[in-house]
Amino acid sequence: MITKEKVIQFIKKNNNVVSRSPYGVQCRFIKLNDKWGVKVFHRKDTRDYAYDNQKAAAKYKLGPQIGQKFDLPITLSEDYDGYCYITEVAKILIKYRYDYDRWEDHKYTKLWDEITEKYKNRINTLCMKLQKKINWDFETDSHIGNVGLLNGKLVCIDFG
Ligand SMILES: Nc1ncnc2c1ncn2[C@@H]1O[C@H](COP(=O)(O)OP(=O)(O)O)[C@@H](O)[C@H]1O
Ligand SMILES: [Mg+2]
Repeated sequence: MITKEKVIQFIKKNNNVVSRSPYGVQCRFIKLNDKWGVKVFHRKDTRDYAYDNQKAAAKYKLGPQIGQKFDLPITLSEDYDGYCYITEVAKILIKYRYDYDRWEDHKYTKLWDEITEKYKNRINTLCMKLQKKINWDFETDSHIGNVGLLNGKLVCIDFG
């Protein structure tokens, strides 16, 4: 299992990987190996909220497995914020970055729409299951940048 110490070591050694890792409004996702990654949130309350939701969803295989929850030491968190949890890595459907310029990139928008069309029924089913099993509303944020595949099964990856 990946521990807090291993994550700290990884971040110290792999600055380039960390700075190129995908991020959204709330967190950055750093892939540590093929199976595990870490999500680093700006805020403690959003980290805790996402952690609780993902933990509940993982029980029903509606989200990736979850590991340790921890805070980075101040010395590191000045650069990277500090509120983390370990997550299983899902196969993403489209590279996603919180970057408005991308929306003006026609090819990217087209690809986004095509993949959305392809997965729309499966995304709806996933939303319904999350609502029913863990009583959580994913629908408003259920775009294809927030879902992924685990063993071919569609799962939610953004529980914030
Ligand atoms: N479990 C995961 N497996 C693989 N990639 C992930 C995972 N979680 C997040 N990501 C990647 O990181 C990006 C940002 O994570 P996300 O949870 O959507 O953050 P935000 O809440 O800030 O949008 C995702 O769009 C995706 O590319
Ligand atoms: Mg997201």
